[in-house]
Amino acid sequence: MNIERTEEQTVLCTVEGRIAWVKFNRPEKRNAMSPQLNRQMMRVLDELEFREDVGVVVLSGEGSAWTAGMDLKEYFRETEATGLKGTRKAQRESYGWWCRLRWFQKPTIAMVNGWCFGGGYGPLFACDLAFAADEATFGLSEINWGILPGGGASKVAVELLSFRNAMYHAMMGESIDGRTAAQWGLVNESLPLESLQERVTQVARVLLQKNPIALKATKDAIRRVQEMTYDNAEDYLVRVQEAANSFDNEGRKEGMRQFLDDKTYKPGLGTYDLSKQEAR
Ligand code: ACO
Repeated sequence: MNIERTEEQTVLCTVEGRIAWVKFNRPEKRNAMSPQLNRQMMRVLDELEFREDVGVVVLSGEGSAWTAGMDLKEYFRETEATGLKGTRKAQRESYGWWCRLRWFQKPTIAMVNGWCFGGGYGPLFACDLAFAADEATFGLSEINWGILPGGGASKVAVELLSFRNAMYHAMMGESIDGRTAAQWGLVNESLPLESLQERVTQVARVLLQKNPIALKATKDAIRRVQEMTYDNAEDYLVRVQEAANSFDNEGRKEGMRQFLDDKTYKPGLGTYDLSKQEAR
């Protein structure tokens, strides 16, 4: 089935209660990522990144798919037909927004509602957290149509899965459901589709209560230190905290004050009240 859609219509976005709900919107093509969709995703992320009324971004898909990966027709066949230039341009457009998402200013959550294949592992890994429907289907299906898991997909597999599971997943081309994806560490949790949005909303609301400067520093730290030695990581974390203090030195002081002086909360059990810091 073909539906005429403008580039802008390939991605939906609504903001409610400081949560931006961003959706792949090519349900009739199982949200396969076309060059149009990739360009629009970058625009949407650009628009959301520093908006005051957005604290968390959730990425999901319209219809039965999260995303069926790269669009074999529009992303591969049609761009290849234009030569190397076309291929490189299409790669830059897709890898570009995934990279943007990996280092996004706000916390990001993948809400995997259905099919998730191949190139979909790029944005899946780019999101800080991932929640899947039990009914979702994940697969590195590249081998099934004769290519290797490129576009970062092999890297995502070894970053998130055990060596044996990554190898099996990539070589066999078998799909797994949301529950197995959670057991393997591809997503944080899997739960029935009917409860998925409620759970993601709950998680997003918790994130909205945290200090946003500390959250950005934290999410970057968790990604960066993976490839550092212990000593390098220790040094990097000292510098990052010092840099974060230059943007927000009051946050941690307020956090200490509410615990040590006001005794209104316990950091081991919850978050300090951000609104009191803003009110001072
Ligand atoms: N690229 C291009 N078109 C696609 C893609 C895709 N990745 N996925 C689905 N479509 C299209 C189908 O060709 C079909 O188009 P048509 O209506 O013009 O015939 C339409 O979307 C609906 O797809 P169906 O296969 O009919 O949907 P169904 O729900 O039965 O199956 C499934 C869904 C399992 C996701 C199937 O579409 C599929 O296997 N898609 C390809 C998945 C894949 O391997 N993606 C590439 C990964 S590798 C990479 O990303 C580099």
